[in-house]
Amino acid sequence: MQEKNFITVALPKGKLFGLSAELLKKVGWTAEGLYEKSRKLIITNDAAKLKFIITKTADVPTYVEYGAADIGIIGKDVIDESGKNVYELLDLGFGKCHLMMAVPKDKKRARLEDYAQTRVATKFPRIAEKFFTAQGMQMEYIKLNGSIELGPIVGLSESIVDIVETGTTLRENNLEEIVTIMNSTARLIANRVSYKLKFERINALVNDLSKILTAK
Ligand code: PRP
Repeated sequence: MQEKNFITVALPKGKLFGLSAELLKKVGWTAEGLYEKSRKLIITNDAAKLKFIITKTADVPTYVEYGAADIGIIGKDVIDESGKNVYELLDLGFGKCHLMMAVPKDKKRARLEDYAQTRVATKFPRIAEKFFTAQGMQMEYIKLNGSIELGPIVGLSESIVDIVETGTTLRENNLEEIVTIMNSTARLIANRVSYKLKFERINALVNDLSKILTAK
């Protein structure tokens, strides 16, 4: 748990950072020097009693689960993959994308089941396994940390399970979506204890953000 009077907010580097910082700023939750490329690990606004930490995308749920951050903003896909025990307070609507399975166009098989027992490259092995197990399919999962689309192109795997936002990466690499696994948007999450102990401020934030989101 962080200092009693301060709220620590974990924000992810990368695609969600700008929109997250912009949205929080609209409700007065900001700090001087809060920008993605800053090398400062903690950016504090003493007057507003706020601290921001900028972390690797996949680590946001970890900071929040352990209470090193009271709240955070992160994609639903990353929350589910992390398996972390955090409160999901609000769907922020931005960061729309979906998680899907794709294969090289020229190696497409007739049915989903035809890929059983093959290798799938992914940054999301937990979600992928849950999905394929539900389909009664056993797969071999190869964990990658980025550029997942390369997997089937160089013969590392038969398929990928990855995020699609605009579809450009799939198109440019001659991959075709086979099945959608889940849809995702950015969520406001909270540490379970922080949510109780700092309820007033966190709840006020949820209400202020909700107003902005419904006004859109
Ligand atoms: C993500 C994702 C895809 C791409 C999808 O990668 O893993 O590769 O974006 O976006 P698109 O549908 O708009 O092309 P990211 O840019 O986060 O980098 P990474 O490959 O290093 O994970």
